[in-house]
Formats: sequence, C-alpha cells, structure tokens
Amino acid sequence: MRLDYFISHSAGLSRKQVKILIGKGHVSVEGFAAVKANTQVADHDKVWLDGRLVQFSNDRYIMLNKPPGVVCSTDDPDHPTVMKLLAAEEQHRLHIAGRLDLDTTGLILLTTDGQWSHQITSPNSDCPKCYRVTLEHALTDEARKTLEEGVLLRGEPEKTRPAVVEIIAKDVIHLTITQGKYHQVKRMMAAVENRVLALHRVSVGAVQLDASLAPGEYRLLSESEVALIGGNIAS
Ligand code: URA
Repeated sequence: MRLDYFISHSAGLSRKQVKILIGKGHVSVEGFAAVKANTQVADHDKVWLDGRLVQFSNDRYIMLNKPPGVVCSTDDPDHPTVMKLLAAEEQHRLHIAGRLDLDTTGLILLTTDGQWSHQITSPNSDCPKCYRVTLEHALTDEARKTLEEGVLLRGEPEKTRPAVVEIIAKDVIHLTITQGKYHQVKRMMAAVENRVLALHRVSVGAVQLDASLAPGEYRLLSESEVALIGGNIAS
C-alpha cells in the first residue's frame, strides 16, 4: 500500500496532512527518512511519525455528521443511506455502531471492528450517549426530576436508567442516556408530556462530534478517539 494511506488510515490524519508531514521529513520507514507519499510499504513495516511507531490497523473507525433525511442502514429503497455518504473504497466491511432515526442528526460511528461497536451498542454497556434536544415546551423541574430518576415508557415493564439533564436554553437541553431503546429520547419526552422538535447526537462515550464536520461529512477517528470507547460492558 502507499505510505500516505498507511499513516492516514492508522493515525486518523487526512492524506493531505500526511503528505505535508512526509514532505517536512517527519516520517521514516524501516530507519530511512521517507520523502515520497507514494512509497510502497507493507502492513508489517516499521513506520515512524515524529519518533512514534505507527501501528497499521486493518480496522477502520469513522465518525460522520448525519444529516436529516438519511437512513442508518446499508440499503434502503426510499431514502439515501449513511453508507452512500462514504467514498466507495471506505464502505467495505463497515457497520453502523448505534443507529439514529431518519430525522435525527449528528454523531454516527461506523467501524469494521465488531468488538469495539459492541462496547457502544450492547444493552449491558453503560456507554453514555448525549443528545441536544429541542423541545416544544421548556422542561419543568418536575419533568427534569422524573427523567433524572428514570421514567416509565409506554409498553415497557421497567423505568429507564437515570438520565443526566443539562439545561442549555429555555427549550433546549442536553440529555445523556446509557440505553438505546427504540425512539428512546422521543418516548422519554412524551412520557413527561413534552415533544421533541429536533434531536442531534453530540457524543458517544467520550467521543465528541467534530464541530468542523458539516452535515454529511466524515473523517477517520484518531487512535486516541478509538481508545476512548472501551471497558463499558458490565459483567
Ligand atoms: N432517541 C430517539 O428517539 N431517536 C434517536 O434517533 C436517538 C435516540
């Protein structure tokens, strides 16, 4: 593979950034300074970036800013899919780690690593997901307390796990939940006699949606972002 692909893929940098780093002499391969982005390397080659060994990973981890009207699936007869927002060469073997409704916007994580996505989606995981929720009515103190203590959703036998509520504006809150029931946020708001007007996911675990990504744009996660997800499964 090309050296710039090896590094951008493994270190979460864009090909453009990698080319600049190579040009400035920050990269070496097997002990020799690399000068060309198209140098051919193998996945076991020792590639160094600023004195740090870059491990080639066959797994890919992507964050995408989901626009409204795009469905979280690989194929859909009626709507564009998040997969179709990715370049063709990126789509191979990827799956979505935690879906959003058609009208919900914000952070979607995609990966080839099933163990990693299990940390996000497993019902036993405590992985928090934070949503910016625009409400029809300002949240009352009573409704806030109910959400924070756990609320009984229609058709469910048990209350939701306690949520964290942060008031952002009169009718906008940040709601952090650790479950992923069907339409959970909308149903939680309905249970406290309110209604969601807009829903946007801002973070999953400690991974924040990159504010520089416009709706529909995506980028690879950095190594440190990949490492932020993990160790959430309760035994
Ligand atoms: N809760 C919802 O109601 N919808 C989403 O898309 C995500 C969480």
